[in-house]
Amino acid sequence: MTTPSNQDRVYIFDTTLRDGEQCPGATMTFEEKLKVAETLDNMGVDIIEAGYPFASDGDFEAVREIARRSKNAVICGLSRAAHKDIDRCAEAIKPAKRGRIHTFLSTSPVHMKYKLQMEPEQVYEMVISSVTRARNHTDDVEWSSEDGTRTEFEFLCRCVEAAINAGATTINIPDTVGYAVPEEYYDLFKRVRETVPNSDKARFSVHCHDDLGMAVANSLAGVRAGARQIECTLNGIGERAGNAALEEVVMAMRVRSDKLPYWNNIESTMLTHASKLVSAATSFPVQYNKAIVGRNAFAHESGIHQDGMIKNAQTYEIMLPETVGVKATSLVMGKHSGRAGLIRKLEELGFKLSRNQVDDVFVRFKALADRKKDVYDEDIEALVDEELAHAQNMLKLVSLTVIAGTHGPQRATMKLDINGQVRIEEAEGNGPVDAVFNCIKSLVPHEAKLELYQVHAVTEGTDAQAEVSVRLSQDGRSVTARASDPDTLVASANAYLGALNKIVMKQHREKPIGMPATAAH
Ligand code: KIV
Ligand code: ZN
Repeated sequence: MTTPSNQDRVYIFDTTLRDGEQCPGATMTFEEKLKVAETLDNMGVDIIEAGYPFASDGDFEAVREIARRSKNAVICGLSRAAHKDIDRCAEAIKPAKRGRIHTFLSTSPVHMKYKLQMEPEQVYEMVISSVTRARNHTDDVEWSSEDGTRTEFEFLCRCVEAAINAGATTINIPDTVGYAVPEEYYDLFKRVRETVPNSDKARFSVHCHDDLGMAVANSLAGVRAGARQIECTLNGIGERAGNAALEEVVMAMRVRSDKLPYWNNIESTMLTHASKLVSAATSFPVQYNKAIVGRNAFAHESGIHQDGMIKNAQTYEIMLPETVGVKATSLVMGKHSGRAGLIRKLEELGFKLSRNQVDDVFVRFKALADRKKDVYDEDIEALVDEELAHAQNMLKLVSLTVIAGTHGPQRATMKLDINGQVRIEEAEGNGPVDAVFNCIKSLVPHEAKLELYQVHAVTEGTDAQAEVSVRLSQDGRSVTARASDPDTLVASANAYLGALNKIVMKQHREKPIGMPATAAH
């Protein structure tokens, strides 16, 4: 066993709240962002990219509040090269104990010509002026050459050298379009670090997208070539095919430390909980066979594998499930379980809830246990997710009755609490789900379009909870919400209302409004 040296320390830069939140449908509410940031901070993430403050007042407020609350991590805001962007970003990160401005500019021929419509010399000058501007606000400045992997090598080196001279302390060379292959990304970092005369004055960073499924491999190749910061997201969410997954880079370095002798500060037992939290906040389900955090990652189905596992777990497992926070067999709850049992279970699952939240979850747990014999961990997680998601909602389902069957049309009657006022409405539809959604539309007129409606069972059996995901889009932005209930129609109504709530809350934060109906047109 060799002692870890500072040279082998890799800094984990999490961009779930920025690049992750940027992907279509992954919008998080203000409260959800705070919760995710708190978890990242507790988990040992070194730098949290909390958002893009210039994008909207809502993004600015979220970055500022995260900066105010963070205990350990450096809080970073993203900014384009324009001075007004940089100044706004500086304002947002000001309350942080340690804050960073991350400013970027495209350097590839295709981006400079078509996106920026600027000559390379203008770009070069802008790199210097943007980094200088950022450096006047803070001494922790990161500069990124957007589309770095498709940039001409000489020009990339000139820009990197200029950025370091202007005061950048971290240099990020992103594979913005997920085009690189590992050997190529390795060579790029090696050559840039060897060629740029002042490269020893900055820490180099990798930022890889997964368009060809190589984001994690590329990130690790960059680290082997001397980069010491990895930009990644939980569950690998991000623009298009996503970013390198935090849980994968962390566990690859831990499990294969013989080949990847680098260390980081992440408390890996929190990975599963953090993944579930992000999945609940974004309503993006984690693919079942996802490495490290997928529900099948430690499941063994075939007889041959089960037999091997019984004889020795090392036959088919390369890491202990506990190291990533997956509990072995877990205590099943039922209608006789009391409050103390629930509190213990919530702690075991990694939830820290206020007393009021525990009270609410307990009421919902009892109601569920009355309808369902065994309540599994997944059921409890679904209850808590709902509790966290619905706490601030303006639209709340009070009751729902649906008449369905072979003799249509199907009819729904719904009572809704709209910002404290209870209203009732009836509607027909082409099927029970359509009737439920029509009811919502007449109670809360809006122009959002339904983009996705998906149902799956949280656990097994006919009494399993149905988990419904709904994605709505309005004004070019889409939001997703998820809800679960043993009754599929109730779950459908809550998921639809959850997505509508996100639209209403976002508009409310960006431009305060009176009633939700106005906000949703
Ligand atoms: O992918 C990318 O190039 C980015 C930059 C803003 C760092 O996300
Ligand atoms: Zn990116």
